[in-house]
Amino acid sequence: MLSNLVKQMFPPKDIIGVDIGNYAVKIVCFTEEKKVLKLKDWGYIPLAIKADVPPEEKKAIISQEIKTYIKKKNLQARYAAASISGNAVIVRYVKLPKLTRKELDLTIAVEAEPFIPFDIKDVNLTYSILNDAAEEGEPKIDTVLVAAKREAVQDKIDIISGAGLDPLIIDVDSFALETLYDRIAPKGENNSVLLLNIGQKVTNLSIITQGVTRVVRDIFIAGSTLDKAIAKALKTDAASADNLKKSRSVLVSDEDKEGAIENFDKEGITVSKAAASVLKDLYTEVSRSIDFYLSQGVEHSISKIMLSGGLANLGNVTKFLSMEFKVPVEIVNPLAFLPEQPKNMPKDVLPALAVATGLALRSMKDWEE
Ligand SMILES: Nc1ncnc2c1ncn2[C@@H]1O[C@H](COP(=O)(O)OP(=O)(O)OP(=O)(O)O)[C@@H](O)[C@H]1O
Ligand SMILES: [Mg+2]
Repeated sequence: MLSNLVKQMFPPKDIIGVDIGNYAVKIVCFTEEKKVLKLKDWGYIPLAIKADVPPEEKKAIISQEIKTYIKKKNLQARYAAASISGNAVIVRYVKLPKLTRKELDLTIAVEAEPFIPFDIKDVNLTYSILNDAAEEGEPKIDTVLVAAKREAVQDKIDIISGAGLDPLIIDVDSFALETLYDRIAPKGENNSVLLLNIGQKVTNLSIITQGVTRVVRDIFIAGSTLDKAIAKALKTDAASADNLKKSRSVLVSDEDKEGAIENFDKEGITVSKAAASVLKDLYTEVSRSIDFYLSQGVEHSISKIMLSGGLANLGNVTKFLSMEFKVPVEIVNPLAFLPEQPKNMPKDVLPALAVATGLALRSMKDWEE
């Protein structure tokens, strides 16, 4: 009884970030010891749920997976932060008339409506005022609008609650990536950085200049697009294509290409061609966002790309993208800021933990406030 009371007054500080993706659930749990963050545990749970499983059943399966993981690891966490992305949320950086917060609270739905492509009744609308601005001599404010589909938010709440956790925060994938980047960025960085988190269905894109986000967008070209292209080219199924993605690579140098030809590696060449063509499509879409960003009369062009998500593991993907974009491409180590690096973590899990790490950091921060 007493211990329960103590728990309520001083709830355990372990908070977990749960990134419920289309391909895998990623879990990161930090604990704080004498003001030093430590990785308590991490989880990577591949889902492989068949497409024809009804949504409610799918949610129950994911809840159960998370529950089993927590039990197995004996985590004491009560609170979790999860996130949404893709079709479920729209983030817009817009100028609005200079109103007080009180006035905006009353009028935000009307002000935001032109920028939100969803029915305003179906979304949770939140906003944040960034700074004062001016437009054609009129005083304005720069704001970020976030419109999240209620149903998608509820789905995440249901999954987390179903796993026996309290959904403390439902964030947005891109914001979690920013929280993370804030932690791992070199101090005093002056340049613009492009974050690309390439997952299964969605690629999250953010452009950050001196710690301020300028563009956020989700693009629907990612791992499953590669699977489809590979499956089509080799007349195989998506599961085999997924495996080929992991064992093969994009042939970039002339040496690689010639080597494949000499070895009559037809499969390798076909996989590479299919992957390269999808990555080129992704490049085109990302370039549109970069052009949009540059059209705002900014001082900095993109100086580097930070790559995360499971697809960051695709062989030669950094080489390929840096040749396309003509800037350096680095793979994110989301745990780089920890004094101690985890042991026994498969190499390809690390970049996939980016969103979950950002979520765990975000919830720690909010907790302290
Ligand atoms: N070693 C690897 N080599 C190549 N691709 C890989 C590797 N490991 C994972 N992937 C790919 O990464 C993708 C999954 O990445 P991630 O876990 O970031 O997605 P997700 O968060 O579940 O999806 P989404 O965010 O789109 O809902 C899959 O397409 C998977 O095949
Ligand atoms: Mg993801």
